[in-house]
Amino acid sequence: MIFKKVKYDFVQKYDPVFQDKFVSHYMIENKITEKFKKDQITLDLIKETRLLEKHILDTLFKKKLISRRDIQLNQVHKYISSDNSREKSSNDVTRNNLTAAFFNKDKNFFKIYNLILKKVKKKLKFKFLFQKDPFIRFNFPTKNHFDTLLPHVDLAIGHPPGEINLWTPLTDVTKNNSMAVSNLKKSMEFFGGYSFDFNKYVKKYNSDIWKQALKILKPYIAKKGKTIIFDSRVMHKSILNNSSKTRVSLDYRILPIEFEKIAKMYRGTGYKQQKFSKGNYYSSKVI
Ligand SMILES: [Fe+2]
Repeated sequence: MIFKKVKYDFVQKYDPVFQDKFVSHYMIENKITEKFKKDQITLDLIKETRLLEKHILDTLFKKKLISRRDIQLNQVHKYISSDNSREKSSNDVTRNNLTAAFFNKDKNFFKIYNLILKKVKKKLKFKFLFQKDPFIRFNFPTKNHFDTLLPHVDLAIGHPPGEINLWTPLTDVTKNNSMAVSNLKKSMEFFGGYSFDFNKYVKKYNSDIWKQALKILKPYIAKKGKTIIFDSRVMHKSILNNSSKTRVSLDYRILPIEFEKIAKMYRGTGYKQQKFSKGNYYSSKVI
């Protein structure tokens, strides 16, 4: 893999006063770490993943994005047009027409998503809001060796402290096509080196910093359905897919209700400038 820096214009930029506030929010213990004494835990969602697999293949076939539906999800790259496998962003390998096909999801998807959230609730046993519209992402195999994917935490892109990240691989994931994750201690040391000022981090980001980050990141290797739930201050990064299989994943976030008030002070860095509040980015109901 070869280092390549591109524009990371999605990173938040806080004024000095808010930056101090952000850092104080950042120091509040995350509910995952508090409850499980670990910064990441896993949850088996194989049943729900099988339902999602079928839903995704049916949807892609209906939208005429794949030429066959009786295939494995990790083989979809073989049944799509070359235009549909093309990356539409320089800093996000998962921006392509198949990912975009799920920007508007139907009732069937949300039925499955609800089943997932029920299982998450059963495991966590505390009250939370959840991301209304999660992401289904397709990471296609590539021969490209330029790694443009920024090691980050979602709190660097406007997300509110206290959030919890959930990532469900919908295909088996290996060291060559998964997501890489670090741990809380090392992530705090790493970003603490930039005073949690992510703009400073992105400006300085270079091949040495990339190498340091890779040292503390480990690929999340798992069978499909095995969901990783982690403290949002844990550094992570997508892996350039140099395997021969498509990686499909579902990512979503939840917010323990104790953080609702703080979350209202934050905005998404995307063009929508999403509000991190009930009924906006998050569900209108607490579960
Ligand atoms: Fe992320």
